[in-house]
Amino acid sequence: MKIHSPMDAVELSRIRAIGEKVQQLQKEGRDIVRLQIGEPDFTTPGHIIAAAKAAMDHGQTHYAPNRGLASLREEISRKLLRDNGITADPATEILVTSGCAEGLYLVFMGLVEPGDEVIILEPAYISYLQLARAAHARAVPVHAKEENGWLPDLDELRAAVTPKTKLLVLNTPGNPTGVVYPREVLQQIAALAQEQDFLVLSDEVYEKLIYGGAQHVSIASLDGMKERTITINGFSKAFAMTGWRMGYLAADARLILPMLKVHQYAVASSNIIAQSAAITALQAGESCVEEMRREYARRRQFLLDAFAQIPEISCVAPAGTFYIYPNISGTGLSGTEFADKFLMEAGVATVPGTAFDSFCNSHIRLSYASSMESLQTAVSRLKGMLKK
Ligand SMILES: Cc1ncc(COP(=O)(O)O)c(C=O)c1O
Repeated sequence: MKIHSPMDAVELSRIRAIGEKVQQLQKEGRDIVRLQIGEPDFTTPGHIIAAAKAAMDHGQTHYAPNRGLASLREEISRKLLRDNGITADPATEILVTSGCAEGLYLVFMGLVEPGDEVIILEPAYISYLQLARAAHARAVPVHAKEENGWLPDLDELRAAVTPKTKLLVLNTPGNPTGVVYPREVLQQIAALAQEQDFLVLSDEVYEKLIYGGAQHVSIASLDGMKERTITINGFSKAFAMTGWRMGYLAADARLILPMLKVHQYAVASSNIIAQSAAITALQAGESCVEEMRREYARRRQFLLDAFAQIPEISCVAPAGTFYIYPNISGTGLSGTEFADKFLMEAGVATVPGTAFDSFCNSHIRLSYASSMESLQTAVSRLKGMLKK
């Protein structure tokens, strides 16, 4: 039997595929340093785990409201105002989701129609392109360049807009390059969105992980943008809560409604135990986040210093996230060849740049959400590999 599916054009994650290859190599007894995945190596802070245990002990084991626990939405609303300058009514303008991953899915399923055009600023997190395909939309890449600090050229962006443009996907701080969009650039994008009447999805999951004085600005806080922006954020990266699957989105009530429909039928409500823990995460303050951020900053500096001493490798210093995106073209290899050789010969798993932008074959992405010891091993293996 031939099976046709509306998902035929959608690819499985290449990063997960590298993870499976790593597992296979480990099973064969190889010692692999895993820098391919964007997952904090820290365990969730103890007070958040304790809050989840207490929630269960107090019988918080039932369905939560579809939009999420009212008290969590109120905390999120306060956080959005305090940190991001966004006003969002907890009753109608916030939706608690199962990770940012679900938030992204809701935007594409709830707001994007077949034939719509979606502008993706590449290199970009792999989900955006695949979700555009899942929605039967046309993905329109605009390629940011390394020499421009991984910011898009505004003229190229303007040229990519057509009457069919429905949505622009923005990710700041950005995976995989670590770019943090300055306010002036966001203002120009905001002006274009209003002039050409399209929506903006602003994925801000790395908001708290910024370095060297960079400042995070939420595009929804700029004049005229609240009504056309869907702001997505969550707990995975900042609070080391990847496994809890906790996120949220904020948008105008009229945009929330179609997304609520998808959420209702796909998920019903996000895990109530994780929601209770998320309330504590927001209420308890961010000293734990700051502690982890400082450690990421130390690791980032270690990699920048190490790469500065390797003539075949150059790198734009990432202002945010826990990724670094070096240019390896000085080795004479493509990103794909390099990532393959680095894994097979040196036992270090990374992701080739082509996973994030089909034109970006001179780069690899490394995650420094891994112990300093693994990073040191990776660098010494890299030096050994390049000497051969
Ligand atoms: C840019 C970006 N957005 C969203 C996600 C998904 O995060 P979550 O764990 O909250 O689903 C990731 C995860 O790697 C990411 O890098």
